[in-house]
Amino acid sequence: MKDITTDRRSNLIKKNVGDLMREMFSSRISEVISEIIRMADEIGCKAYLVGGFVRDLLMKKPNRDVDIVIEGDGIKFAELFARRVDGRVRTHKRFKTSAVIFSDGFRVDVATAREEYYAHPAALPVVEISSIERDLYRRDFSINAMAICLNGKETSMLYDFFGGQSDLKDHVIRVLHKRSFIDDPTRVFRAVRFEHRLGFRICEPTLLLLESATREKLFEKLSAERLFNEAVLILEEQKPEEALLRMNELGLLKFIHPELCFRVESNQLMNHCKETLVWFELNFPGREVRRWVVMMMALFDSLANDCRDEMLQKFKSAKKMLSCPLVNLAKVEAATAKLHKPVVSPSFVGKAFENLTNEALVFMAAKQTGEGIKALVTSYLTNIKDIRPFINGEDILKMGVSPSPIISNILEQVMEAQLDGKLKSRHEALKLADKLSR
Ligand code: CTP
Repeated sequence: MKDITTDRRSNLIKKNVGDLMREMFSSRISEVISEIIRMADEIGCKAYLVGGFVRDLLMKKPNRDVDIVIEGDGIKFAELFARRVDGRVRTHKRFKTSAVIFSDGFRVDVATAREEYYAHPAALPVVEISSIERDLYRRDFSINAMAICLNGKETSMLYDFFGGQSDLKDHVIRVLHKRSFIDDPTRVFRAVRFEHRLGFRICEPTLLLLESATREKLFEKLSAERLFNEAVLILEEQKPEEALLRMNELGLLKFIHPELCFRVESNQLMNHCKETLVWFELNFPGREVRRWVVMMMALFDSLANDCRDEMLQKFKSAKKMLSCPLVNLAKVEAATAKLHKPVVSPSFVGKAFENLTNEALVFMAAKQTGEGIKALVTSYLTNIKDIRPFINGEDILKMGVSPSPIISNILEQVMEAQLDGKLKSRHEALKLADKLSR
């Protein structure tokens, strides 16, 4: 067992937070927690609320990601709990964690109180069963390392071993020990993410450790997937541009690509993207847009094509995540080049925008200041994209044209005429097709 001497010495402060829980929890969360308590009492184990859920409760921020730790057998608890609530359970035996998913999608993460060892920096941890104190000690920051006991004599008692409450009060992000970033370099990105989400500051000793991890290039050891998962989480935040400016300042972006930077222009572009996302979601409520994709496009916009290719090469295992924004960027660039004409017909817009995803449309409208592209996107989505053609291939075959590329050629021309308002009915469309087929 590891010695539990910390840079932040373990000094338990307890506080009953029952009133706060009653004040803050929705009836749904209260029901779920009551069920967790019943189950833990039945099995005879101790259950604790932990992590971001506790942090946000103390900050009076809503959070639906219920994260619990069981002193005992967490996997068995999760299996029985899932049966009790008619849910499904997904278990990672290696990490002694499970997720219980209710029939309506509500999710509770369950872990066995555990200690983690890292065979080498950035490796996935080796896990051993332990007490709640040791479980909290392996966590990233003091503000995320508090627990609330849910049952037994100390029901509703907050356990704060590492000064989490005082750091919440002082708006500080602090690791618990010197090896934290070495054990798990994703924490460098998490530190920046929480700093900007919560409006906190990474404290000086933690910043020194973070800078040292950066100098040691610890992220090079992280898998591409883990690195880009963190990037996506940052881009999904409300103010990704602030976190990216900070990452730029800390020299973190160069691990993605040496030429990648985030300065005033990228900041402006990202802000335009945020405004355009609001506009898009308001005007086209049924059309889904992945925010992180638009934001990643803004992040990589200034990167030259060969740098984008190098990035794809370097991070092969994150290809799925990376190629979507990069392919979108290339398509937007091609479409924008086509639109440099004073007047464009609907069929021309249809052609220029075909194959553009919603993310690409948003990015394109954000990149071009002024209302021009927004108007074209509106007209494309409202009048062009989903328009049903008056005729189809069957109609052309019936005219005696044998199966060949000629058919799609005719259909394309008829569709162009339809989009440009030159055809008013199926009858007129058939007439034109007939003429074209001769
Ligand atoms: N954790 C950690 N080190 C990591 C990731 C997570 O110690 N690299 C711990 C923290 O205690 C964290 C908890 O696991 O609070 C849950 O992780 P996660 O759900 O990723 O973070 P949250 O703190 O819940 O943040 P968010 O609000 O973004 O979900």
